[in-house]
Amino acid sequence: MPGWPADLSAGPVLLRPPKLRDGRAWSEVRLRNERWLRPWEPSSSASWYERNSLGAWPPLRSALRRSAAAGTMLPFMIVYGGRIAGQINVSNVVHGALRSCTVGYWVDGELAGRGIVPTAVALVIDHCFGAVGLHRVEIDIRPENAPSLRVVEKLGLRREGYYERFLDIDDGWRDHVAFAVTVEEMEGRSMLSRLGRLPAPPAWTGA
Ligand SMILES: CC(C)(COP(=O)(O)OP(=O)(O)OC[C@H]1O[C@@H](n2cnc3c(N)ncnc32)[C@H](O)[C@@H]1OP(=O)(O)O)[C@@H](O)C(=O)NCCC(=O)NCCS
Repeated sequence: MPGWPADLSAGPVLLRPPKLRDGRAWSEVRLRNERWLRPWEPSSSASWYERNSLGAWPPLRSALRRSAAAGTMLPFMIVYGGRIAGQINVSNVVHGALRSCTVGYWVDGELAGRGIVPTAVALVIDHCFGAVGLHRVEIDIRPENAPSLRVVEKLGLRREGYYERFLDIDDGWRDHVAFAVTVEEMEGRSMLSRLGRLPAPPAWTGA
């Protein structure tokens, strides 16, 4: 697929494809963040530990790589000041007349509120409209998820609709609010410039 693999960066935020050696850091963040992430994650019959232990990483990373190779997904790790801070996935990539995708994301609760995810979303939207050649990006959010609603508000995404019982999340069919943006709405500007401020570098880099 055009635009894959890719490294995208702005300030202290780097997005890059997942590596096999990310397993230890990924599992540590995921296990520590169960209460923070679980309400927003797909339902599963497996326990949180089974899904997020070190052993879960190689098959997950292989599945992400296969989807990327098939051209249906761009899976990125979010790295902040050199540390794995979360993930952002461009999924449901459709070419042809639609040329659209869906973006999903999470960040370590310890690093929330620094503007890391809005920066990551701006980077992937600019990349999707640039090298990948898509026309539309959609983000679907549970109406209860105030922090995520703030992310799309900061980026000025357009509210497109309300999907009832749309996704199987946290053991139930959950309503979602759909937000979208098409290339024309950018009027030649980048999403990164629309966002304006970048996150400050973390204290641990000494910057
Ligand atoms: C939604 C999420 C990705 C936002 O990422 P982020 O990098 O923290 O985004 P921001 O820094 O722009 O913060 C967004 C809002 O979260 C809220 N927030 C900030 N710190 C917070 C904290 N420690 N705990 C809870 N909410 C917080 C604030 O309202 C903030 O808006 P503000 O900047 O106007 O004050 C993150 O909260 C998260 O990973 N949540 C759990 C997983 C999830 O909801 N994924 C998205 C599913 S659609």
